[in-house]
Amino acid sequence: MNTGNPDLIRLIRTEIEKHGPVSFAWFMQQALYHPEHGYYSSGRCAIGRRGDYFTNVSVGPLFGQLLAAQFAEVWERLGKIDNFEIVEQGTHDGQFAHDALEWAQKCVPEFFEALRYRIVEPFPILQERQQRMLEAFREKVEWRDSLQPFVGVHFSNELLDAIPVRLISDGKEKFVGLDGDKFVFVERPVHGEWTFNQGALDWIDSVAANLQRGYVIAIDYGRSSDESQSNVQVRAQHRNLDSPFDQIGYADTTTHVLWQSIVERAQANGLRIAGFTDQHHFLTGIISTWPELLQGCSEDLTALSSHVPSAGGDLGIKRQLQTLLHPEMLGRAFQVLGLEKDSGAPRLAGFKFGRDPKSELGLTQ
Ligand SMILES: C[S@@+](CC[C@H](N)C(=O)[O-])C[C@H]1O[C@@H](n2cnc3c(N)ncnc32)[C@H](O)[C@@H]1O
Repeated sequence: MNTGNPDLIRLIRTEIEKHGPVSFAWFMQQALYHPEHGYYSSGRCAIGRRGDYFTNVSVGPLFGQLLAAQFAEVWERLGKIDNFEIVEQGTHDGQFAHDALEWAQKCVPEFFEALRYRIVEPFPILQERQQRMLEAFREKVEWRDSLQPFVGVHFSNELLDAIPVRLISDGKEKFVGLDGDKFVFVERPVHGEWTFNQGALDWIDSVAANLQRGYVIAIDYGRSSDESQSNVQVRAQHRNLDSPFDQIGYADTTTHVLWQSIVERAQANGLRIAGFTDQHHFLTGIISTWPELLQGCSEDLTALSSHVPSAGGDLGIKRQLQTLLHPEMLGRAFQVLGLEKDSGAPRLAGFKFGRDPKSELGLTQ
């Protein structure tokens, strides 16, 4: 028996009964984003200790603080402009935005003054949650249903792995069909040209079309080239489930991001690679540039390196650091991709310990 939201299961079953097997991308779209019953769109998704899984953001405020320092460097690179936008997509409850804005306000007020925070959020229930979380920053934040032209930085953490994909390997595609009233995979040959991650490619097309000047920083877990087929991960209450047909609409479904294809598409759209490395090296680059970030903050980004740290440090911060950086925790699981347009800039702090991004990504040019 399939488990999950009965209304959603019925709706998917009816579609298959009427029209035959559906692509996995369509199935995943319903499971996560069906307007009423989807895991994300219904507001069911819960992240953190009491939820279904952890993310960098749920580890604690340090992640948002480190990224905010990186955004401040981008702002400097763009000439400290006063129409600088941080555009976030995949915002969940707004916790990352809160951590980043709070840090900027306290530690780099000049940057805080100049920035505008834009959240691209298609789901009303999530917009409401974000508005509650960001009440203290209501002057700074605006919500959008879709991307609009901007100068600044586009940020996402675990957005891309939640974009639906088709399951294709060795010339065959797995569709979702029915055996009695149970969902099963049905394989069919694929002919001609095909793309398994059209949603992710549409996303980078849209980001490239709207970014007028600045950077894209995307953090996710993935693979650099097409060495293995997409593997689907399904998680609920911190357990991996055996099948995407378990807990439909109640569980998170993700697949590894194929970075190489996204970068190739970005380049075709006029973006340049600014860096590609794992999270361990990325965050270490930021911390080593501004070690004082771990102790609090100084008045101004440019003065960060002269900040005198308080003695002792903070155990909470140590634990957060270990979780974010340790290779066996989140440090190697996640990669960070940086893309840029017309920034004319050398490497950002986060990419200073990264190796040659093109060879890491398996790109020839
Ligand atoms: C795995 S969660 C990541 C949440 C958060 N960034 C974190 O790290 O805790 C993925 C989020 O991406 C959102 N999402 C998916 N497609 C989106 C889109 N096209 N625009 C905006 N958000 C989207 C989902 O609603 C969900 O909140």
